[in-house]
Amino acid sequence: MPSTALDPVGVAGRRAAWDTVMTGFVPGLPALERVIGTVTEGLHGGPPTRVLDLGGGPGLLAERMAARWPGARVGLVDIDPVLLALARTALPGAVDVIDADLTAPAWTAAAGGGYDLVTAVMTVHYLDPAPIRTLYRAIRRILAPGGLLVVADLMPDDHAPTVMRALDPVPGEATAELAWTQWWGELTAAAEFAPLLAARSEVFRDRPTAEFAGGPAWHAQAARAAGFAESGLLWRDGRHAALACRRT
Ligand SMILES: C[S@@+](CC[C@H](N)C(=O)[O-])C[C@H]1O[C@@H](n2cnc3c(N)ncnc32)[C@H](O)[C@@H]1O
Repeated sequence: MPSTALDPVGVAGRRAAWDTVMTGFVPGLPALERVIGTVTEGLHGGPPTRVLDLGGGPGLLAERMAARWPGARVGLVDIDPVLLALARTALPGAVDVIDADLTAPAWTAAAGGGYDLVTAVMTVHYLDPAPIRTLYRAIRRILAPGGLLVVADLMPDDHAPTVMRALDPVPGEATAELAWTQWWGELTAAAEFAPLLAARSEVFRDRPTAEFAGGPAWHAQAARAAGFAESGLLWRDGRHAALACRRT
């Protein structure tokens, strides 16, 4: 990955704009983060000691978890050179920023184990069903006993009629798509990002986003097959939902 020194002030602005783009897609994300915090503390009997955000992008959730749990070791895993550079610039020393591919077995060696909480927010829709199943098995192995996995993504309501699910009107989604395109467009205009964007093109050249959208029942079944005995719906916001799975 190119070692580009980025302007920290510019990075702060880009991360703030990223946060706005993501909540444009899913307005309920702040509420999800609150639920994750409360449930984790409840199950753990206090603040967790080790947490990991998968597909953590520029590290907004990791940063907020580190602020909420100052005694915890917080990490994130991602594959995107641009987003990793934003996270590393913004969070030096505060968060372990791990460059790894969640579809390659080596990521667990890089991440280590003993996690009380593993999150994957808006990440698994990048992957096909088989790699998601493999990922759940790997996550179970890196969780401490009693540890929690929270997967939040596009998870249409299992009980909605199929045709309704497909045609669901999604208020604000077109605007959010535009904001996403604009966010990436602004990076291409900044010379300091040129090497990172070139590296990003390489990474994603043979890795199209799967756009997988299994319902909660699909994810619960995959989690069960991966050895999670307990799982349940934690949160819903329109077509997006979060499933919590606990390692016994
Ligand atoms: C829509 S973004 C969400 C980022 C972050 N979770 C958030 O909510 O702001 C999806 C993230 O998953 C990451 N990702 C996709 N496929 C990946 C893979 N195979 N390994 C690691 N990260 C991956 C992307 O690089 C991106 O950062």
